[in-house]
Amino acid sequence: MRVSYFKKISAALALLFFVNLYAVENQRVIDELNSPMPEIPLKQSMGDRAYNDAINSGEYSYVGNSKCRLCHRNFFLGRKQDPHDHAMESLVTSGNEKNSHCLMCHSTGHLMPTGFIDMEKTPRLANVQCEGCHGPGNVHIALAKDKTKNEVKKFTGGGFLAGADNPKILENMCKSCHTQRWNKAYHDFEKAYDSYKNADPNTGH
Ligand code: HEC
Ligand code: HEC
Ligand code: HEC
Ligand code: HEC
Repeated sequence: MRVSYFKKISAALALLFFVNLYAVENQRVIDELNSPMPEIPLKQSMGDRAYNDAINSGEYSYVGNSKCRLCHRNFFLGRKQDPHDHAMESLVTSGNEKNSHCLMCHSTGHLMPTGFIDMEKTPRLANVQCEGCHGPGNVHIALAKDKTKNEVKKFTGGGFLAGADNPKILENMCKSCHTQRWNKAYHDFEKAYDSYKNADPNTGH
């Protein structure tokens, strides 16, 4: 008898705990919905002028992370454990998986030309993918293929609007999405940022 009483109490406490967790989570969602629509992360990170020049040139487009897998297989596999790669699941509980306001930070290139539209039209750009942080990848891939084909010079990277050669913009990318409301990851920003430098599981990090 005592055991079942104890079980009931623990079950009730557990329920309260989760209801409370949900309420806290839900409060951030409510606050977000009551706030103005966020800026496109890449635009906020680069500044209006540089962003408009780059995007209006029509040179950049999103390709989806299966293209990155071809040359960065270990990075790609390492990233599968990353919460960014599951970001759209978090919108489902509150029924916001089609809400642009949320997709701005939970998908790749939303409201940009060639970026994520919805699961029917652009499933290959769901969640915050490689290009969600580095920006459109087509130019990088063209450069990589060109260099590899000619074998004149070894390709060391480049072609991204937020690549490793542009750490300031890349850092701004983190901050455009991880705003004060969504800053749980910010206990140790340096550590979080550095973990992306070492995302290749084969390097032992
Ligand atoms: C044809 C091969 C190829 C493809 C496809 C490719 N890359 Fe790369 N990438 C390379 C090579 C080679 C380097 C330089 C060596 C290295 O860092 O691995 C590189 C470097 C990078 C870097 C670091 C340097 C920089 O420019 O910032 C990033 C970030 C990167 N790639 C991201 C991506 C993403 C995201 C995709 C998919 C959109 C992608 N790559 C697709 C070959 C490729
Ligand atoms: C396009 C928006 C976007 C960008 C850019 C972005 N993040 Fe995130 N990040 C998210 C979202 C959304 C989640 C939550 C995923 C989920 O669980 O739904 C997240 C989760 C995380 C987490 C997991 C821990 C937690 O609090 O849930 C860490 C750590 C993190 N991000 C660090 C970074 C760093 C460092 C950068 C920059 C290099 C960055 N993020 C860039 C949107 C972004
Ligand atoms: C949450 C943001 C984020 C995501 C998502 C992300 N990266 Fe990166 N990536 C970074 C950061 C930050 C760096 C470090 C840049 C620097 O050197 O300052 C980096 C560096 C790299 C490098 C260079 C590594 C080195 O040691 O020189 C490559 C290659 C790369 N990323 C490829 C990818 C690929 C491929 C994907 C998708 C499978 C991906 N990244 C997804 C943030 C991200
Ligand atoms: C400005 C960018 C931004 C917007 C807009 C945004 N989110 Fe997020 N969201 C994040 C980031 C970054 C995280 C991860 C860090 C954190 O939890 O603090 C996150 C985490 C979450 C989580 C928690 C995931 C977990 O497991 O901890 C939920 C749920 C969520 N978001 C739902 C939403 C919904 C619903 C909307 C739209 C009303 C929304 N978000 C709009 C950036 C954003």
